[in-house]
Amino acid sequence: MNILDRLARRIQAEGLGKTIKYLGYAGWDGIKSSLQDAILDLKYSGRLLTGHLPTAYKHLGANDVYHTEYSAMSIIFNQVTITPHDVLVDVGCGKGRVINYWLSQGYTNKIYGLELDPVVAQETAEQFGAWANVTILPGDAIKNLPQDGTVFYLYNPFSREKFYNFESHITKLAHAKTITLVYYRPKSLHVFNNGRWHIRLIDFDQDLGIHQWGRLNKYHKLAILTPVN
Ligand SMILES: C[S@@+](CC[C@H](N)C(=O)[O-])C[C@H]1O[C@@H](n2cnc3c(N)ncnc32)[C@H](O)[C@@H]1O
Repeated sequence: MNILDRLARRIQAEGLGKTIKYLGYAGWDGIKSSLQDAILDLKYSGRLLTGHLPTAYKHLGANDVYHTEYSAMSIIFNQVTITPHDVLVDVGCGKGRVINYWLSQGYTNKIYGLELDPVVAQETAEQFGAWANVTILPGDAIKNLPQDGTVFYLYNPFSREKFYNFESHITKLAHAKTITLVYYRPKSLHVFNNGRWHIRLIDFDQDLGIHQWGRLNKYHKLAILTPVN
C-alpha cells in the first residue's frame, strides 16, 4: 500500500481533523529526532550515522545494520543501574549509536562494541579512535564475548538459531559473575525461557505510562534478563 492509500484509509477511519493532528505530531517528532540524531552523531562520531544498511552476512544469521533510536535509549537504560565498575557491551554495535549514547551520559566505563561486518566494524573503530575506553571488536560476537563484560545490550542483532548459541555462551559467563542483558525488541526471548534467566518484560506504554500518540508506534518492548543463581 503506498503512502497516499494509507493516508486515504486513515482519513476514512479517523476523519480529516484527527489525521491532520497525527501528521503534525509525526512530522514534529521526525524533525526533533533527526536533530537529536545529528547532534549526537556529530558530537561523538564526527559523522552522520543515518541509514539502514542491508547485511551481506544473512547466511551467518546476521540482521541488517540499523539503529536503536536515541529517544528510546534514555528510557531503555533508565531501567538498569549502571555503576562505574560495569563493563558495557553492545552486541552487534553497527555504526555505534548506542556507544554514542553511553558517552553522552558521561560514562567513563570500559565499553566494547562487537560487530560482524568488517567494513562497518573498521569505520566504527576509527570514529571512536579518540576514546581510550572504547574498543570495537570485529567478528562474531559469540566468539568475541568480552569475559569482563557485565551489561550486554542487544537490539535484534541476529537470527533465532544464533540466539541459542549466544545463550549457551553467555550462560557460561554468567556463572562467574552477575551480568545483565538488556534486550530491546526481544524477538528471540523464548530462547531464554529455560529456567536459567529472570526475565522482566517491559512495555513502555503499559508499564511505564509512556503513551504513543495515535498509531505512531515508535517503541518496541524491552526485556531485562539476569541469571537465576
Ligand atoms: C539492528 S543492528 C543494531 C545496531 C546497534 N546495536 C544499535 O542498537 O543501534 C544489528 C547489528 O548486529 C550486527 N551483527 C549481526 N550478527 C552479528 C554477530 N554474529 N556478531 C556481531 N555483530 C553482529 C549487524 O551487522 C548489525 O550491525
